[in-house]
Amino acid sequence: MAASGDGFIQLEAVKGQSRLYGEDGGLSDLWLYNGKLPGPEIRVKRGERVKVRFKNSLDEPTSVHWHGIRIDNAMDGVSGLTQPAVQPGETFDYDFVAPDAGTYWYHAHHMSWNQVPRGLAGPLIVEEEDNPFSPDADIILSLSDWRLDDNGLLDTASFGARHDFSHAGRLGNWLTINGTSLPDIPVRKGRWHRIRLINTSASRVLDLAPSRFGAKVIALDGQGFGTARDIDGVIQLAPAQRMDLVMKPDSAGPIPFEMMTGQPFTFANFVVSGEKAEPKELRVPAPNSLPEPDLVNARSFPLDMAGGAMGRMQSATMDGQELSMRELVQAGNFWAFNGQAGMGDKPLFSAKRGETIILESTNNTAFPHAIHLHGHHFRVLERNGEKLAHPDWRDTFTTQRGETVKIALVADNPGKWLVHCHMLGHAASGMMDWFEVA
Ligand code: C2O
Ligand code: CU
Repeated sequence: MAASGDGFIQLEAVKGQSRLYGEDGGLSDLWLYNGKLPGPEIRVKRGERVKVRFKNSLDEPTSVHWHGIRIDNAMDGVSGLTQPAVQPGETFDYDFVAPDAGTYWYHAHHMSWNQVPRGLAGPLIVEEEDNPFSPDADIILSLSDWRLDDNGLLDTASFGARHDFSHAGRLGNWLTINGTSLPDIPVRKGRWHRIRLINTSASRVLDLAPSRFGAKVIALDGQGFGTARDIDGVIQLAPAQRMDLVMKPDSAGPIPFEMMTGQPFTFANFVVSGEKAEPKELRVPAPNSLPEPDLVNARSFPLDMAGGAMGRMQSATMDGQELSMRELVQAGNFWAFNGQAGMGDKPLFSAKRGETIILESTNNTAFPHAIHLHGHHFRVLERNGEKLAHPDWRDTFTTQRGETVKIALVADNPGKWLVHCHMLGHAASGMMDWFEVA
């Protein structure tokens, strides 16, 4: 995107339309950045500033969050916590350094359950200084799950449905990649490509099997491994998570890109064309250097998830009062972290700057969740008491029903930060709290 004289690029939230169902489908009414689905690609090099002059041309307030960036707190874009919401007609300048290379994204963070699944999301790419993949071999795929009505249009009547909030979130019935259903993705035979997957869905966990199309994984949530990992079977890509793949098509294709939920089904095709005389050996970028957790001197805190349909939560604290499940439901809250439904006046934990925090999470609900911490990356250390072979860096971790997951982070970014489920209806109905780094 071209910047103006003062280095700011223009990003505007506007009403727009798109044919989600395909060429012969109708136009759905969407909310979009710069009228595009997905929003425009913002790309900088590691360590550079991202300067965005954001204008809100919607009829309601909004804000922009830069998901996964270890950002200045004031630029985190959380309305009501790090900034007031940007009112209709107003502008807000976002100006921050992107310290780590990788695949990130930006999305609305004001009533996100309503704004993100209408289209307010776009890719944010931070390149390595020596990105080994040239632009036409560096492919971004934004994967989105939509709920369409019988006419093939975005179902807006069901936004905020309590049944969705109290169950698995708003699940759709239609998938798009970069705004198109079943697209052809052009690739070159014999050449290494980097495929950046971003799950922008409100709630849908995508089951993917990269090894089925000959791809290897080089990064999760933006953080490179420094090597290419062959992963057998299914890997989940939960809402807000990213996965970078590398692949070198060897046959003339097309190579199906499949969803593994139920029977595998193809949701895009890599269409292979002639050989390209480019370097054929794989060069994988080196990892970012993130602060390593000091597990010996860490302090541990619980993160107990409770509530939802078929959960056993009896009561929780809301706005300083202990409420019964029934009262909570009347107030629109179905979920709680550590017995607290929604933001409490005390933080989930307070860390001294630079301290290592271990979160021991337990999913005492009947549903999976995708828990995101703002402003930090963490290592996922253990699942159900078992140490993971790869304690990968993430900014959003999945947790299944009944599971315990242990993560560790160096709390080195001062400010008040959100921690919430990225199934956006869950976040809106109790699964959202905050922590503090002082
Ligand atoms: Cu991707 Cu709190 O957000
Ligand atoms: Cu959740």
